[in-house]
Amino acid sequence: MTNTSTLRTSSNPFLSGNLAPVDVETTAFDLKVTGTLPNELNGRYLRNGPNPIGQVDPEKYHWFLGSGMVHGIQLNNGEAKWYRNRWVRDRNVAKSLGEQAPPSDWPADHAQFASNTNVIGHAGATWALVEGGSPPIEMNYELETVRVSNFANTLPQAFSAHPKRDPRTGELHVMAYWWGWGNQVQYLVVGVDGKVRRNLDIALPGGPMMHDCALTEKYVLIFDLPCLFNLELAMSGRSFPYIWNADYTARVGLLPREGVAADIKWVEIDSCYIFHPLNAYDAPDGTVVLDAARHDKMFDVEQRGPNEGLPTLDRWILNPQTGKAKQERIDDRPQEFPRMNESLLGLKHDFGYFAGISDVFRQADLIKQDLAKKTTQVRHDGANFGYGEPVFVPRENSKSEDDGYVMALRHNTETDLSDLVVLNAQDFCGEPVAVVSLPARVPNGFHGNWIAD
Ligand SMILES: [Fe+2]
Repeated sequence: MTNTSTLRTSSNPFLSGNLAPVDVETTAFDLKVTGTLPNELNGRYLRNGPNPIGQVDPEKYHWFLGSGMVHGIQLNNGEAKWYRNRWVRDRNVAKSLGEQAPPSDWPADHAQFASNTNVIGHAGATWALVEGGSPPIEMNYELETVRVSNFANTLPQAFSAHPKRDPRTGELHVMAYWWGWGNQVQYLVVGVDGKVRRNLDIALPGGPMMHDCALTEKYVLIFDLPCLFNLELAMSGRSFPYIWNADYTARVGLLPREGVAADIKWVEIDSCYIFHPLNAYDAPDGTVVLDAARHDKMFDVEQRGPNEGLPTLDRWILNPQTGKAKQERIDDRPQEFPRMNESLLGLKHDFGYFAGISDVFRQADLIKQDLAKKTTQVRHDGANFGYGEPVFVPRENSKSEDDGYVMALRHNTETDLSDLVVLNAQDFCGEPVAVVSLPARVPNGFHGNWIAD
């Protein structure tokens, strides 16, 4: 076992360099800003990611299982008011910190593990989220853990880290999975009141790791892909018992928004794995266009994190009438963590923002795709800088899809500190609008959001 503070050169790539955890919680006020923060950005940029606490075994550590830590920067009226990072207090974190476990709406034996994948605002609260069977954890404005939630007694069991918010209704659409259900996933719709208003069980041939979903005006997309729960692995003590199965047919399900499982139109696709769609939308001819970061496979050889070759940006045209798909490569530069102007989620999009990826999910440049003009801009600030997921924030009264800001955390290997970079999305490679200097290193992590006040 290794103490987390000595991990910077671990043999486990998911514990070394800027994937190594930080071992302190920091609170800092009145941060240095270079450039001018737009007055209209009032709220918090929050980001979640794995940050194992205490002792870890580098031989067995899986990136997806490190304790959740949320990093946050509050912006107000042109100033960067604070930076905070806080572990999400699941019961293991609370125990490691010598604290009482947070209140829970669930029985004591309910699945509860690291809530490390995303952090969102919904129904007036802040939620740390993870997939695979563990419930949402509510945090307060200052990132202290409030409770392990069941959404006011409406959540049957599991949630997901990737709710898709319908921009027209404000509802969250979610595909949840949990090994205890067997070969089944559950589609959930959470209302603007924070209560589950609909849940639908969907039987599948296997038990896939279903990290995300996509939404169009007509359909919810179900990614039934060949990375499956494996009971033998689980029984053997493997911490993350999902493994590639080359015999399993890759397909995408098109579930009519208010339909039932029997209404799903399944479309077979060539074998691959998708963590994250950029977006999907209904084409006028009845097909569905899906853009996503595509991996050849997942958890085949490497069992400590995603490391089965580098992801590309691909487009699928899914035909619900024929059950067939056309696929094309949009860009073969390695990229992941796709984000868009989410006021267009489920509608036709022209722009996408990505974190460039080098080997083993190391973050590098920042990428903007113009899918209409078929052009790509790559923002390269220098070999010492690595960007995380870019979040797009529309400008007030924005006039076009990319009229807004791109916000992303950036790590500098020379100073070993991070900053929050705010870009003009229409001047993607130009001088940043503002850079907020943080007094800490933010490890490469997963997902975040701008949560306006
Ligand atoms: Fe994700």
